[in-house]
Amino acid sequence: MRKVQPRHMQRTASGWYTNKWILLALIIGIIFIVVPSSLFLISKVDQKAVVKQKKVATAHLVHELEQTRFNNQAVSKKETVHPTSQPTQVMVVDKNLPKDIQTSLTQKLQKIETTWRSSSDELLLSYIHIKPTFKNIEQVEAGITSYEWNNRNKAYEQKKQEKLPLSYRQVTDNQLITSQLFLKSEENLAAVHLATKQILLDKLKPKSEVVDAILTLPAFTWDTPIAYHPDHLVVTVPASGKLTEQTVDVPYQKIKCVLNPDYVDDKLLATTTANQDSSTKKIALTFDDGPNPTTTPKILATLKEQQIHATFFQLGKNVAAHPELAKQVHDEGHEIGSHTYNHVQLNKADEQTIQKEIVETDRAIYQAMGLLPQFIRPPYGAVNATVAKLAGRPIIQWDVDSRDWATKNAAKTLAQIQQTVSPNGIILLHDIQPSTAAVLPQLIDWLKAQGYEFVTIDQLLHSQEKPFHQYFSQTDERTVS
Ligand code: NI
Repeated sequence: MRKVQPRHMQRTASGWYTNKWILLALIIGIIFIVVPSSLFLISKVDQKAVVKQKKVATAHLVHELEQTRFNNQAVSKKETVHPTSQPTQVMVVDKNLPKDIQTSLTQKLQKIETTWRSSSDELLLSYIHIKPTFKNIEQVEAGITSYEWNNRNKAYEQKKQEKLPLSYRQVTDNQLITSQLFLKSEENLAAVHLATKQILLDKLKPKSEVVDAILTLPAFTWDTPIAYHPDHLVVTVPASGKLTEQTVDVPYQKIKCVLNPDYVDDKLLATTTANQDSSTKKIALTFDDGPNPTTTPKILATLKEQQIHATFFQLGKNVAAHPELAKQVHDEGHEIGSHTYNHVQLNKADEQTIQKEIVETDRAIYQAMGLLPQFIRPPYGAVNATVAKLAGRPIIQWDVDSRDWATKNAAKTLAQIQQTVSPNGIILLHDIQPSTAAVLPQLIDWLKAQGYEFVTIDQLLHSQEKPFHQYFSQTDERTVS
């Protein structure tokens, strides 16, 4: 007989199976729901703790910044906390920082930030600080530091730091001092250009290709980055030809003619401007067309004996032919100017020729003695606006023509000067004329007896001579048209 299981027993068996499934579901539930959620809760608590730790660490860093950078002056702070993916940003600025300066510098700081990798584990701490310097000028410092959170040490660790170049502002009108505000004119810009070329030549001691690039460096414009500082300018020279981009410090000692008393400390002005004593009778001797191996050494010997310094406007082709002699003129303390390469009448020449005459002479003089001529004397005194522009340096004329080039006669040369000389003038002579070399001792004795003091062109003009201007004497300055 087949034994049939009782119904209740069947029920019991199926009930046992049901309970097993429920149990399994419970276990799965515990594993997949309860564990993660409790872990999540734990991490929430942990995150909250980290947020708190970060806050404390941030406050500490900000406090440190206030103490060191701001000397505990009143500041305003702006904190931006992003919930995810972006770093926390804190900016600390002077309480009285003008809005427009803050805006322009914040933009520059943001530019730096964007080049840095940033995550929510980072803190970006930036500052803008103003500090009085002299007169009405304040220095503006700005910088940014990035920190990364180290969860093991529970601390921020410094990653990167960058400062913006110092800038300066005028308190009176709240403006940042730009090159245009400081330099004001194209001629001052040209003076900075000439000084920059000399500094580049000194700094790079360049090979011929780079010398070319420096000698033909395009004129600066108001877009050329030139940063004002109280005692120098910082010029970012754009790449040109074989010359790569260069940053050049130009001390005001080398651009005395551009100094603007509003932006320069009086102490520095006093040391850079020559003694402008107008009580004495001054005279500047100038010698053109050399060097010449027969006559120039005689003239140098006389000047040395009389302890006098003069100014020589050398011809490029003669410098190239006698570089040692050309250098000797400079070594003996005389000033050097350019008189073109081939004695060309520049106002009748085309631009290309003018440029070539000037650059070739610069090159010859640079190769002979390592410097660029600071002035130009155009042959026959012939200039126009194009010549002035391309020369890019002060144009030195004369008010006393010895006519030694015409008379070639010692007595007549002396008489001519005796009849036409006046105080604070510029005498035109030629160191290629034997008659001039012969009469020079007598001429100097006579001028000394008249009470004249001998000066160089730069001394006569108190270092205030500017590109594009022409000088006939200390007081006769003209623009070129
Ligand atoms: Ni000449």
